[in-house]
Amino acid sequence: MKILAIETSCDDTCIAIVQASPRRGSKVPRFHVLSNIVSSQTKIHRKYGGVVPSLAKRAHQENLVPVLEKTLGETGMLGNKKISARSGSAFGEKNKKLESKIKNAGKILEREPELLEQFIKTVVPIPKPKINFIAVTHGPGLEPALWAGINFARALSYWWRIPLLGVDHMEGHIAANFLHTGKVEFPAIVLAVSGGHTQLILVKDILKYKLIGETVDDAAGEGFDKVARMLGLSFPGGPEIAKSAKGGNPKAFDFPRPMLHSKDYNFSFSGLKTAVLYTIRDLTVTSKIKKDIAASFQQAAVDVLIAKTIRAAKQYKVKTIMLAGGVAANEELRKQFGEVIKKELPDTLYKIPHTSLATDNAAMIAAAAYFRRNKATLTRWKTLKANGNLKIG
Ligand code: KG4
Ligand code: ZN
Repeated sequence: MKILAIETSCDDTCIAIVQASPRRGSKVPRFHVLSNIVSSQTKIHRKYGGVVPSLAKRAHQENLVPVLEKTLGETGMLGNKKISARSGSAFGEKNKKLESKIKNAGKILEREPELLEQFIKTVVPIPKPKINFIAVTHGPGLEPALWAGINFARALSYWWRIPLLGVDHMEGHIAANFLHTGKVEFPAIVLAVSGGHTQLILVKDILKYKLIGETVDDAAGEGFDKVARMLGLSFPGGPEIAKSAKGGNPKAFDFPRPMLHSKDYNFSFSGLKTAVLYTIRDLTVTSKIKKDIAASFQQAAVDVLIAKTIRAAKQYKVKTIMLAGGVAANEELRKQFGEVIKKELPDTLYKIPHTSLATDNAAMIAAAAYFRRNKATLTRWKTLKANGNLKIG
């Protein structure tokens, strides 16, 4: 089974084609990522220090068709004999049908004029690819950005008559863990940490989620991005902080570990961010101090994330601990988590996505879609909508 997935919830235009083959004795199939294109918009948003939704939408509209072409090209599905939009007799039945189909596609893409132009010029001549269904992120995320991907997916589903399915972005992050592994035992606990979310999710079985805690203010990734900005590092801040922290002392500053001992499983990062702000304000920040602040901030965040996840893992007696989301690319978090699990919960499986699959991509959306495949329909293109606040569970 082949799945084409589209992800545009934030500032990356992503399309992937993933093959899934059932594996005997396992609920998780063997996934084979045939193509996974991520077109980053970092350069556009960097000068604003964060993602600007209207610019993200515009960039998605410009990038979706070239990214699709690349994905289909990489999987040999572009076809060398392109069907010309003008083929057949000028007054033939075939042409009339084609014209009416183009008109309908135009309605689907009426809010994406640039995308429509490229669709007619480039997608219409491509032969229908051998794809079982199309999946697209329908939330959570920035609604203008989500709509660009959704409308494109709707147009493709209509044009090729391939069933369509909407996928939860956070479910995608969790499923990134399944792309390269067969062995996951339930119940599992997932620490999902991205630019917009910090959540502890109990996964009782495939698709059975219970949100047991989340941030009460900033998300972990947002914390990294904001502190990076305070230190004059560029956007996105997570990888920059991690880089800078390598040369610093994580014990140089004793930053607070907010909600470390609270009885619930919620998180807070705003106090930590403010503590960093005050420290910077009262100091002359040399390059050595900058590295020390980055390392100490990172350690404070890592400490809280690990401690609360381990406590939840013990309480719910889970068999697997998983990391998910962009912050799961953080080397220190990955390493220290592994060490603590080995020491405190040696019988628990520890799953982390490949670093390149931790941040936003469409292969993870395809993986999540596999488990929801029965919901893919030929008429979903008529009803699928963006939901910026979609909640897992
Ligand atoms: O999941 P993601 O790619 O997009 C969202 O769904 O938000 O996560 C992006 C977030 C950003 O805040 C970014 O700074 C953070 O993940 N991030 C990292 C690292 N790589 C990305 N944070 C810490 N360390 C990293 N290596
Ligand atoms: Zn994400």
